Amino acid sequence: MGEEAANGGDAGPQKTVTVGVPKEVREGERRVALVPKVIGKLSGRGARVVVEPGAGDGALIPDSEYTDAGAEIGDPWECDVVAVVNPPTTEQIGKLRSGTTLIGFLSPLTSPETVQALKDAGVTAFAMESIPRISRAQGMDALSSQANVAGYKAVLAAAENSTRFFPMLTTAAGTVKPATALVLGVGVAGLQALATAKRLGARTTGYDVRPEVADQVKSLGAQWLDLGIDAAGEGGYARELSEDERRQQQEQLEKAITGFDVVITTALVPGRPAPKLVSAAAVEGMRPGSVIVDMAGETGGNCELTEPGQTTVAHDVIILSPENLPAGMPEHASELYSRNITSLLELMLSDGELTPDWNDEVLAKSCVTRDEPAPAQDDSTEGES
Ligand code: NAI
Repeated sequence: MGEEAANGGDAGPQKTVTVGVPKEVREGERRVALVPKVIGKLSGRGARVVVEPGAGDGALIPDSEYTDAGAEIGDPWECDVVAVVNPPTTEQIGKLRSGTTLIGFLSPLTSPETVQALKDAGVTAFAMESIPRISRAQGMDALSSQANVAGYKAVLAAAENSTRFFPMLTTAAGTVKPATALVLGVGVAGLQALATAKRLGARTTGYDVRPEVADQVKSLGAQWLDLGIDAAGEGGYARELSEDERRQQQEQLEKAITGFDVVITTALVPGRPAPKLVSAAAVEGMRPGSVIVDMAGETGGNCELTEPGQTTVAHDVIILSPENLPAGMPEHASELYSRNITSLLELMLSDGELTPDWNDEVLAKSCVTRDEPAPAQDDSTEGES
């Protein structure tokens, strides 16, 4: 679209960028890229928001809430900017016009073919997972906002499937001891899992290969499991362990894990398969009726016995590997994600026009493909994360 608004008056015609919000098509997805709460903010920056009919259905947000907030119901694929949660399907990429800007989770490291298809279609695409984790960009950090939801939901899933209470209970029939919960991998999701398990009354312990996490774990009232391995990598992420370190870790974890009622695993290494932290022997050593929630199922799982996407029972231990946990709490997950998208858009929007400053680190790093070469650089930003 990109048409000029008719309300320019003497000040001359104003551009009005249009922002489209499709209905997500991934199976089980209930989130939506923009919620009505952020429409006013975008309108204030000169954007018109066009929402596909039923886009908010999964989150129980009716079309009327969008129109009340000032959005239009229409075809989002015709817009200048399209905001999505999940990487677009081939069919959706076919609907994008050359010159469109696409913003969303695009899996640039694990799905380079999507980025290539977007490039071939002449689309400028920003991957939310490639936004640098610098303090200025915290408001755009969708990995963090969704990891918080996932960590919370993982604990609820553990409590729901546990054969035991989380809190200590004193009843006329006797006292029940509190559950013990171990969180392996204490990034954003792990910290939220520790905090949530604690709120439910469990005794909590955290473990990570980045020793700097120990203080954060303790500040949440949890114990720190120290295995003496330091694998802090670049940019605050963990590096992959050497073969020796991996063996040492597995041996020690095998002993530690057996004492817990609940184990929640979140360990990831960017662009690599999930590290295996819970061996089959460790599962066998756990008390029957214990629960493992493996949050790394989509990249292979942290537990040897995980079946991604399934709930199974092995050695009388319940192993859950839920997919897309944030979709299970769609309103708040969408609300947080919407704020991330809006913050990124605000960085590019001025007076109803999209004017990205390609020297801005946040835009340069999150842009995975452009419809035209950058003025002072070649295509070297492509595929960066
Ligand atoms: P992630 O999702 O990539 O990984 C989860 C956790 O697994 C990490 O804590 C990692 O150290 C751990 N892990 C990896 N391999 C492991 C192994 N073999 N054994 C045990 N644990 C293992 O991490 P996430 O949540 O994306 O956070 C990554 C970093 O980014 C953290 O340092 C976090 O503090 C930082 N961060 C910075 C932000 C900012 O400055 N704006 C915002 C959010 C996160």
